[in-house]
Amino acid sequence: MATSWNHRHIISLADFTPEDYDTVLQTAASFGEVLSRRVKKVPTLQGQVVANLFFEPSTRTRSSFELAAKRLSADTLNFTPSSSSLSKGETILDTAKTYLAMGTDLMVIRHSGAGVPQAIATEMDRLGAKVGVLNAGDGQHEHPSQALLDLFTICSVLDPERPRLELLAGKKIAIVGDILHSRVARSNIWSLTAAVGARLHLAGPPTLLPQLFEGMGGSRGNLFLHWHLEPAIENADFVMTLRLQKERMTNHLLPSWREYHQLFGITRERLKLCKPGVKVLHPGPVNRGVEISSDLMDDPNFSLISQQVTSGVAVRMALLYLMGGGKT
Ligand code: NCD
Repeated sequence: MATSWNHRHIISLADFTPEDYDTVLQTAASFGEVLSRRVKKVPTLQGQVVANLFFEPSTRTRSSFELAAKRLSADTLNFTPSSSSLSKGETILDTAKTYLAMGTDLMVIRHSGAGVPQAIATEMDRLGAKVGVLNAGDGQHEHPSQALLDLFTICSVLDPERPRLELLAGKKIAIVGDILHSRVARSNIWSLTAAVGARLHLAGPPTLLPQLFEGMGGSRGNLFLHWHLEPAIENADFVMTLRLQKERMTNHLLPSWREYHQLFGITRERLKLCKPGVKVLHPGPVNRGVEISSDLMDDPNFSLISQQVTSGVAVRMALLYLMGGGKT
């Protein structure tokens, strides 16, 4: 296994190298093999403590990290803000320090504010604590583990035995929807533009896809913006559609959900524009019938949505292993 890994924390994919992506993909593939065994558990993180500090609601990310930690034999701590001392006025940094004092080795953090995982990581470093901090989604900033599981899912479709970044050469991938509010899109822009020869097309209404996204990603010139769906998905190999994040929409950014579906909803009819064999991804949770038609979402010939959830456990095992592994 590659040994070049040097990320104590995973906050953003901006500083990931192609070798880092391949290390994650290769490690996740080995853990995928573990998860296919009868006994789906390895002693890798025995004695280590993984704390899931989720200050914002989550179903799949939180459960996925918990299961990943348990499959690695770590002890897990779960924090829920409503039943915690936050409601008594404790600060977030003090909450993190409480978990540190209990011997936490890895902290998985989700927060509605961009920058919170970074602030906790900085504080842990300042204290000289050898704790790894993993960003499980911070505001509109980033969601690295989601983008890595998306990458793993896509590369596994292309070569289930040996998922790797170079498989994306010559592939067209479209991300459609509420890009503005999406930390998933921001992390995916880093990973998918890192692949030499891949082309990433973003599509959404101008209110949800501001021009400034053009400046994101690498300097390879392989990121394209569209305010209409058709050119983005034409001949695409993969289409990732994103949830309309109503809870983050403070202004009236869309005329109606029905109109959004008419213009940007992914349907069987629309997929005829794509490459034959096109696959559809969605990070979940899904607004059925809005960003994707309900029947398409459940059709395993097109939809990779369940596969994304399954891959999530192997990818998160890989991340916890790579971050915790340095210590043992
Ligand atoms: C995403 C998130 O929370 O950022 N969901 C997830 O982690 N699977 C996307 C979303 O909320 O729409």
